[in-house]
Amino acid sequence: VNSEGRKAKTVLLASPRGFCAGVDRAIQIVEESVKKYGAPVYVRHEIVHNKHVVTRLEALGAIFVEELDECPDDRPVVFSAHGVPKSVPKAAAAREMNFLDATCPLVSKVHVEAERHHSNGKHILLIGHEGHPEVIGTMGQLAPGEITLIETEDDAHNYQPVDPDNLALVTQTTLSVDDTANLIEILQSRFPTLALPYKEDICYATTNRQAAVKAIAAECDLLLVIGSQTSSNSKRLVEVGQNIGADEAYLISSAESIDWDKVDSADTIGLSAGASAPEYLMDGVIAALRSRYEVSLREVEVTKEQVVFRLPRQLLPAAGTAA
Ligand code: F3S
Repeated sequence: VNSEGRKAKTVLLASPRGFCAGVDRAIQIVEESVKKYGAPVYVRHEIVHNKHVVTRLEALGAIFVEELDECPDDRPVVFSAHGVPKSVPKAAAAREMNFLDATCPLVSKVHVEAERHHSNGKHILLIGHEGHPEVIGTMGQLAPGEITLIETEDDAHNYQPVDPDNLALVTQTTLSVDDTANLIEILQSRFPTLALPYKEDICYATTNRQAAVKAIAAECDLLLVIGSQTSSNSKRLVEVGQNIGADEAYLISSAESIDWDKVDSADTIGLSAGASAPEYLMDGVIAALRSRYEVSLREVEVTKEQVVFRLPRQLLPAAGTAA
C-alpha cells in the first residue's frame, strides 16, 4: 500500500499477445471490401471470434450471417478467417457472387495438406474440436467420411482404421501445443507409419501466445486472458495458464468483465489476449487496473513476430486497372 492508500500490484504482460497476421488480414479484407464495393458487404460467420471486432465492422457496413443462403446474389460476401467447406465457394460461384476469401493462409495450408494426402490414397485424421468452424471447414475439403476427427485421448486410443498403414495427420491451427503433442504420441505409437505435418499445423501465433503465457504463469496469482468464449486459441491460453501454475486463470471479454474481488486478492496479475482480441481492449484493462491500484507493469517478451499476409488480389491497389 503506497502513501495514497492504493495497493501495489505487479502486472506481467505476456508478449506476443493479441492480433495475429491472419486476423489482421481478415479484418482488413472486410474494411477494404466496404471501401471498394460500398456497403453492405456480407460476411459469412463472425470474421474472427470477437464481438468488439464484429460490432465495429457492422458500424462500417458489414452484415454478418451464418450461411450463404442469407446473402443476396448481388452483394460481395467475405468468408471468415476460420475457413469454409469447399461447398461454400462452389455455391457462391454457381450464384455468380463476388466472394472474398479471408481464410487465414495457415488454415488454407492445412486444407492443401489434407487434399495432398487424400490424393496419395491416405485416410486423414484431424486433431481438433468438434463443431469449431475451422474443423467444419477442413473436414469439408473432402467428401464425408474421408477425414476422421480425433478430439480426445480416448478417440486416439480407440480409433480403428480400415488400413492402419495408410494414415495421415493434420490438425486445427489453434490447439494446445502440449495436448496435441500428447495425442500425436498416442497415434504414432499405434500407427508408426502415420504421415505427420512437415512442420506443425498449430500456427506460429498460437504457439507464441502459449509460450508467452507459460513464461509468466508460474509467477501469477491471477491470469486474465482477453478473448471471447467462442475463441479457441483464447480458451487454450487460459488452460495453459492453469496447467503451468497460475493460481487462477480466466477469460474476460473486456475491462468491464473483470471480477475485482479476484484482482484485489492477487499481488501479481498476468495479462494476455487471444489472437482475435484487439489491443485497445488490453489498453482498457491496464487503464482500469491503474485507476484502482499502484501498478508496476513488466512486459515479458518471448519472441518477436513479423508475419504479414497479403490481401487477396481483388483488393490490391492495382486490381481492376490495366497492367
Ligand atoms: Fe491464422 Fe493462426 Fe491467426 S491460423 S488466423 S495466424 S491464430
